[in-house]
Amino acid sequence: MNKKEIFLIYARAANGAIGNEGRLPWHLPADLKRFKALTLGKPMIMGRKTFESLPGLLPGRRHIVLTRREHWDSTGAEVVRTAAEALSKAAEGNETGEIAVVGGAAIYDVFRPMADRIEVTEIHEDYPGDTFMKPLGDEWRETSREDHPATDGRPAYSFVTYARHVEDDAGEAA
Ligand SMILES: NC(=O)c1ccc[n+]([C@@H]2O[C@H](COP(=O)([O-])OP(=O)(O)OC[C@H]3O[C@@H](n4cnc5c(N)ncnc54)[C@H](OP(=O)(O)O)[C@@H]3O)[C@@H](O)[C@H]2O)c1
Repeated sequence: MNKKEIFLIYARAANGAIGNEGRLPWHLPADLKRFKALTLGKPMIMGRKTFESLPGLLPGRRHIVLTRREHWDSTGAEVVRTAAEALSKAAEGNETGEIAVVGGAAIYDVFRPMADRIEVTEIHEDYPGDTFMKPLGDEWRETSREDHPATDGRPAYSFVTYARHVEDDAGEAA
């Protein structure tokens, strides 16, 4: 099995909020568009709560859903019980070379140590939330950034890509 690049993708408010009452705290069409562009055709790994928060199945993408529940209405989902099972399922028949981890916070925590790349929409406003993400640690380096100002009642935001920072034997950044 060839190594697949694992990336996390999420939108995060300035105060760290990513979710509120099972939904996104904001409506940002540009973020939804980017999410679609970056995930289309790729297997998506997600937690059961995120799967249930979707408006429906997202076309053109496999939904690999982690749950510990024995019985659960999983129509449209490929149900898995462990991170290892999720990754092995996501690699099956995957010609894209990528696996998208699409949340929520519980699932990002499990997969962050294995991720090669993180795609963040940084929203430059605070939002009320019940699900939060911490800022990224020093092991992540920004590799691209696209800033967008606030318009039409929508907050300012930035599309930012982070790659894992690898040090060589001399402790220097590669
Ligand atoms: N801003 C963003 O980009 C973004 C992205 C995604 C989601 N969200 C938001 O985040 C919130 C949901 O996030 P969340 O952290 O509460 O839930 P979640 O990560 O979507 O799902 C958690 C569930 O996944 C299952 N699970 C977690 N770890 C597991 C493991 N190691 N093995 C097996 N199953 C495991 C459990 O399901 P069972 O309880 O069934 O056992 C757990 O209750 C929602 O508000 C959603 O809108 C935001």
